[in-house]
Amino acid sequence: MSSLREKPVAALSAEEAAAELDRLAAEIARHDALYYGEDEPEISDAEYDALRRRNLAIEQRFPDLVRADSPSHRVGYQPVSKFAKVVHRVPMLSLDNAFSDDDVVDFVARVRRFLKLGADSEIAFTAEPKIDGLSLSLRYEGGRLVSAATRGDGAEGEDVTANARTIADIPGVLAGSPPEILEVRGEVYMTTADFAALNQRQAALGRPTYVNPRNTAAGTLRQLDPAVTASRPLKFFAYSWGEVSRMPADTQLEMVRALAGYGFAINALMQRFTRTHDLIAHYHRIEAERATLGYDIDGVVYKVDSLALQERLGFVSRSPRWAIAHKFPAEKAMTILKAIDIQVGRTGALTPVARLEPVTVGGVVVTNATLHNAEEIERLGVMIGDTVIVQRAGDVIPQVLGYVAERRPPDARAFPFPTVCPCPLETPVVREETAGGGEGVVRRCTGEFACPFQRKEHLKHFVSRRAFDIEGLGEKQIEYFYDDADLPIRTPADIFTLARRDATAPTRLKDRDGYGEVSAGKLFEAIAARRRIPLERLIYALGIRHVGEATARTLARAYGTWEAFEAAALAVAAGEAGAREEMDALEDIGEAVIDAVATYFAEPHNRRTVEDLIAEIEVIEAEKPAAHSPVAGKTIVFTGSLERMSRDEAKAMAERLGAKAAGSVSARTDLVVAGPGAGSKLKKAQELGIEVIDEDAWFERIGQG
Ligand code: IVH
Repeated sequence: MSSLREKPVAALSAEEAAAELDRLAAEIARHDALYYGEDEPEISDAEYDALRRRNLAIEQRFPDLVRADSPSHRVGYQPVSKFAKVVHRVPMLSLDNAFSDDDVVDFVARVRRFLKLGADSEIAFTAEPKIDGLSLSLRYEGGRLVSAATRGDGAEGEDVTANARTIADIPGVLAGSPPEILEVRGEVYMTTADFAALNQRQAALGRPTYVNPRNTAAGTLRQLDPAVTASRPLKFFAYSWGEVSRMPADTQLEMVRALAGYGFAINALMQRFTRTHDLIAHYHRIEAERATLGYDIDGVVYKVDSLALQERLGFVSRSPRWAIAHKFPAEKAMTILKAIDIQVGRTGALTPVARLEPVTVGGVVVTNATLHNAEEIERLGVMIGDTVIVQRAGDVIPQVLGYVAERRPPDARAFPFPTVCPCPLETPVVREETAGGGEGVVRRCTGEFACPFQRKEHLKHFVSRRAFDIEGLGEKQIEYFYDDADLPIRTPADIFTLARRDATAPTRLKDRDGYGEVSAGKLFEAIAARRRIPLERLIYALGIRHVGEATARTLARAYGTWEAFEAAALAVAAGEAGAREEMDALEDIGEAVIDAVATYFAEPHNRRTVEDLIAEIEVIEAEKPAAHSPVAGKTIVFTGSLERMSRDEAKAMAERLGAKAAGSVSARTDLVVAGPGAGSKLKKAQELGIEVIDEDAWFERIGQG
C-alpha cells in the first residue's frame, strides 16, 4: 500500500487511481475531523495540502472516477454524511423508460387496458422534457419553505434546506393562496452557459474542471456550505408534488400551472395531447430543440393528465403506472478494445467486460463496457485490438455495438471464452439450461459459496443500498476486508462481529492505513445502526435468486415476521405442498421464485449463514397494509370478465386494501369476485363453499359502491 501512495499520478492505472482516491477521501476526511472537529491536527498544513493536491491531480486525470464524496467538493470539515435524513411522507418515485415509439404505443395501450377504457373514450397525457438534474422535494407550511430534501432512495433523502434557500428559483415564501401544506417537487439543474462559465473560472484559477452540469449541480447541492451553493448558479423547474393538504386542481397540467402561480418556474414545453402520435410528434420537436434549450435533458416524460386516473393506476414497485420517460437515443463513440476480462457475478454468471481506451461518450469518460456473454462476443465478431463502437444510454452500463472492419489491426486476437472460473478454484463453468431445456447463453461457475468471487458478490449485495445499506461498508470495503488476515468478513454475520473482533485484534482498525479513530468508530456505529433491520430488506439482502426488492416486499408483507417467513421457506424446501401452495397464492410469486427459495433454504451452508446472521440482528416486522379495511388479510380471487375495472386494476386495488389477490381458488381463498363468463374457478369456489360475489357487490363491500 505504501508504494501506491508514492506512485506518480501519471503512472497510475485506473484501478490504482480508484484505490488512491478512496484512500485519500478517507485520509483527508480524517484530517479534517482532527483539525476542525477535534482541533488536534496530526500533520502539518503543507502535508495536508499535498494530500489534497494529489487527490485533485488524480481526479483531473481520471474525471470519471471522481467520487460523490470527493474532498474537492468540500471546503474544510463538511462530510456529506452529516446531512440529517428526511423521511418522505409521500415516496419519491422514479420513472419507467421507453426507448422507441413502439414502447410509447405500448405504454398508452397498457394504461387503457388497466383502466378498461373503451375504444372510443379519450385519455389525455401531458408531455414535457425530462430534465437531467437531480430531484428535490420542497415542503411549504403556511406558504413558507420549511424543508428541502433530496430524493435519496425515494423513501428517505437528505436535508439540504440551507442550500436550497440560496437558489433564486426556489421561493422562500409562496405567492397567491397556496394550500396550508404543500410539497413541491422538481429538478435542480445548471444551465449549460453557467456550467461553461464556471469551468472557465476554474481553469483560469488552475483548478480542475467539472465533468457535466448534472454532477456539478448534485455536488453543489450536496455539500455542506450554503455559501458554495449560493456562489454557483443553480436553477429549479417544478413538475410534481408530494403531500398537499388541499389540491388546487384535478389535472397534471392545471396542478403545474397552479405551482407557477405560487411562484415556481415551470417548463414552457409542457403540453397536453390526447393522441399518441401527437405525443410522439412533440417528443421529436423537443429532440430537435435539445441542443439549443440551454439546459441538458435526456428525454420526454408523458403523464396521464387526470389525477383521478393517476390514482386508479397507482404504481408498481418504484414507478407510477401513469407515467413514462421516453429517452433520447443513446450516444455513441469509437475507441480501442484493449482487453476482455471476465467478471463473476453473485449468481456465478460469467460476464465478459470490455476494457477500453478511455473515450468521452455524451460527456462522460467510459473505460469499461459490457459484452454480456460469449454469444454476444461471437455475434459482434469483435477481437482484442479492434476499434469498437460504444454506446452509453443514461445511467445504463455502456455497451459495445460492433467493430470497424477497416480498422482491424493485423495482430488482433480472438478471445477464447474460459471454460473454468477465473477464481483460484478454477471450477468448471456450466451453461445454464433455458426454460425449454436447451442450452442457455449464460455460463456459470458451479462453485457457489466455495467460489470467492460469488461470496464477495453476495456480500456486496448484502451491504448494498437497498439491502443493509451500511455507511462506510461498500464494495471497496468488502474487497478490503474479505481477505484480511486479522478481521476477515466472509459472511454477513462477520460484519456484525467486526467491532467485537477488532477489540482483540493484533492491529486495531483505528491503527491501520486509511482508517483512524474517527473513521473506525464511524464504521462500527454505522454497522450497529443496522442491527435493527426491516424484514423486507433482510429478505432482499439474502440474495436469493429471483428475489428482487418487489418480491422481497411481497414475501415480507405476506409472512410478517422472520420466524413465519423462515418456517414457510423451510417447509417449501422440505417439499411440503401446503406451504408451496400458500406461497404460490401470493401476487407475482411464481414457480421460479418458489424454487429459488426452496433451493436456498435446502442448502445447509445457507441455513447456517442465515442463522448466524439472525443471532446478531433484530428484525423489524413488516407492516400489514391497511389492516382496517373490510377485506384486509383476506385472500381474494377475481374471475370472469369484469366490467368496471381490468383484472390488473382489481388486483392492485385488493392489495392496496391489504388483501391478497390470488390466481387460483383453493381452501385458503376467502372470497371470489366473479363476473359474467366465470368458469372453473367459480365452480371450484362453489364446491368448496367459498363466498362468491359480483363486481358491484365488491365495490359496495370496499365502500365505493
Ligand atoms: S416526474 C412520479 N417529470 O426523472 C413521477 N421527473 O426517472 C416523478 N425528472 O427522479 C417524476 N424531469 O429526478 C418527472 N419532467 C419531469 C422530470 C423528471 C426529470 C427526473 C426526476 C425523477 C427521475 C425519474
